[in-house]
Amino acid sequence: MTRILLIVGGGIAAYKAAELIRLLKKRGHAVRCVLTDSGAHFVTPMTLAALSEDKVYTTLWDLKDEAEMGHIQLSREADLIVVAPATADLLARMAGGLANDLATTILLATDTPVLAAPAMNVRMWGHVATQRNVAQLRADGITVMEPDEGPMACGEFGPGRLPEPAAIAAAIEAALKPVARRLAGRHVLVTAGPTHEPIDPVRYLANRSSGRQGFAIAESLARLGARVTLVAGPVTLVTPPGVDRIDVETAREMADAVADALPADAAVMVAAVADWHVAAAPQKMKKGAAVPVLQLAENPDILARVAQGPDRPRLVVGFAAETERVVEHAVAKRIRKQADWIVANDVSGDVMGGGANTVSLITADGIETWDRLPKPVVADRLAERIADALSDPV
Ligand code: C5P
Repeated sequence: MTRILLIVGGGIAAYKAAELIRLLKKRGHAVRCVLTDSGAHFVTPMTLAALSEDKVYTTLWDLKDEAEMGHIQLSREADLIVVAPATADLLARMAGGLANDLATTILLATDTPVLAAPAMNVRMWGHVATQRNVAQLRADGITVMEPDEGPMACGEFGPGRLPEPAAIAAAIEAALKPVARRLAGRHVLVTAGPTHEPIDPVRYLANRSSGRQGFAIAESLARLGARVTLVAGPVTLVTPPGVDRIDVETAREMADAVADALPADAAVMVAAVADWHVAAAPQKMKKGAAVPVLQLAENPDILARVAQGPDRPRLVVGFAAETERVVEHAVAKRIRKQADWIVANDVSGDVMGGGANTVSLITADGIETWDRLPKPVVADRLAERIADALSDPV
């Protein structure tokens, strides 16, 4: 049985920690909780104790606790320490190496792997200080999950919501699982995000792609030991550890960056590349009597070029975002573009920008539909399948 030490920080999302404990217990993990002072304003020790079926630790200054189970021992007895919700304040104290309460003292005294699931207001998450702290924590080897995007308790909208308990549980199990570096020595090229096609110096055509699925795939591939080149359209996501990132804006820039990054053993084209670009005006277009007409011209099909080009990777994987007849369109797309696999996803719901995805994997051998899964789990599964394909004899 694995032992998880769950640090519950202060934030409205703390109530979701209760659901997380329930899920983890159901999956056979032992959970012991540490509740911060501010966390105790949102959930009670009693709730966490009842669900975890264990004592809840709240303070450094309890003589009895220190005598029975010192804070050092508390941190060393766990297989994984999980901070959920990880507030902006908690992340800042962790990044700074502070030890001014039980939670941060445990975090400083441990060499156990740590996973943090952030939750905070969208502006606090976007603040340069928080982003700096997250980058520092990741550089220090701490796994910091990306928060979910959506409506927040404070009435605003954007990234900052605590990832769903099921997604945190999946990340916990991924962190606990020893990974075989099955892609060591392989180079995999990934495209992700939208493209922006300028209309004039201040306006552009875009789409709702968040880049999260592609970034998660790059992260999973890197975890399996691959050298990953990630060609990213304009997104604000943090570069996953060990991934070489090339930022581009337009489809034509993406096509050039992809061509430069070849050769590769596999290419996974997740980007939602704009189909058209605009003959951009050199100066800002002014409102006048006549409504302007945008003259569109076709963009290069990067996936088709890679699949049909001289440097074709051994495995070429495309994505197909559709809103109707998803599988049918994707099957045709696999053949038309000469990709080996197409990952088809139905984007008629909340997939774009959301945390979960329902996909079908279309190969020459048939069609497999996966259940709705958190994007990082889709990424892990796909990365394992890519590793299987590349380990087959040619
Ligand atoms: O044709 P459609 O845009 O539906 O194809 C989707 C797949 O093709 C995705 O894998 C996407 O990354 C890729 N694509 C591309 N270049 C384009 C258009 C799509 O690489 N111009």
